Amino acid sequence: MTNVEQTPTIRELLRAGTRALIRADGGRLDAELLLGVALACDRTTLIREHDAPVEAASAARFHTLLEARAQGRPLAYLRGVQEFWSLDFEVTPDVLIPRGDSELLVHLALRKMTQKEAPHAADLGTGSGALAIAIAKERADSTVLAVDRSAAALRVARRNAVRHRVTNARWVQADWVAALKPRTYAVIVANPPYVASDDPLLANSSLRFEPRTALAAGNDGLAALTALAHAAPTALLPGGWLLMEHGAAQGAAVRALYAAVNLTEIATLPDLAGHERVTVGRRAET
Ligand SMILES: C[S@@+](CC[C@H](N)C(=O)[O-])C[C@H]1O[C@@H](n2cnc3c(N)ncnc32)[C@H](O)[C@@H]1O
Repeated sequence: MTNVEQTPTIRELLRAGTRALIRADGGRLDAELLLGVALACDRTTLIREHDAPVEAASAARFHTLLEARAQGRPLAYLRGVQEFWSLDFEVTPDVLIPRGDSELLVHLALRKMTQKEAPHAADLGTGSGALAIAIAKERADSTVLAVDRSAAALRVARRNAVRHRVTNARWVQADWVAALKPRTYAVIVANPPYVASDDPLLANSSLRFEPRTALAAGNDGLAALTALAHAAPTALLPGGWLLMEHGAAQGAAVRALYAAVNLTEIATLPDLAGHERVTVGRRAET
C-alpha cells in the first residue's frame, strides 16, 4: 500500500484502495467513495484532479476508512449516507440502513392513499425516517406519525426530516402502537425487526454492524410482526390498510396473523428478487 509519508497522489491512493478492497469484496467504486469522504469532495473532483498530491492527514483518514470497509463495515455507515426513494438519508450505527426492498412499502402505501384527502398515515419503527419521509414528501397533504422506541434513531430521523424539509410528519418515541389514536389511520406501514435471534447472519454478516434492536425479533423472528398484527388494526380507519415488511419465508405466517385479527383483502407482494416481502390487509369497513 502507498506510503502516506510520501504525499501520494489521488491516483495512487485509488489504485491502492481498489486493490485492498477487491480482496475484501469491494472495489474501485467503494475506494472512490471513501476517498471522497476522506477528502470531502465528489467523485468528479477525484477524476479531474487525479494527479494532485494528498496531504498526510487525509491519506491517513482514507486508510482508516479502507480498513473498516475491508473488515465489512457497511459503506453507508462510513459515508454517513444512504439513498432511498431517490433521496439521500443520513445514517448512523443507531439506525438500520434503509434497503431498496423497503421502497415497496412506500409504493403500496401511496397507492392505498390515492383516493383519500389529507390522510393520516403511521410508520412504526421508523429508524432513519426513510419510509415516513418518502410518504410525507409524496403526499404533502398527509400527516405522518413516525414512531420508534429508540431515542437515538429518532434524532437521526428528525435530522433527515429537516434535510428534506418535511414538516407534515411527527416524531414520537413510543412502543409500537402506544402513541396511535384509534380508528385514525388510512395506512399503517411497518418494517419491524424480523430476524430470528439465533440466526447466525446477525453475527457473521455485515448485519453485525447494524442495531440488533432493529433486526432481531425472538426465536422465530415473528415476535414484532405478531405484536403489530394484534395491536395495529384498531388504530386503522375502517377500510384502512396495514402493510408490513417481513422475511422471504414469513409470508404465510403473516397472512395467518392478519386473518386471525379479521383483516380482509390479504395479499403478499414480492420484492424485485421475487421473494415474498410485504403483506397487506384491510380493516373491515364497519
Ligand atoms: C428494521 S428497522 C426499520 C427502520 C426503517 N423503518 C427502515 O425501513 O429502514 C426496525 C425499527 O423498529 C424499531 N423498534 C424495535 N422495537 C420497537 C418497539 N417495540 N417499538 C417501536 N419501535 C421499535 C427499531 O428501533 C428500528 O428502528
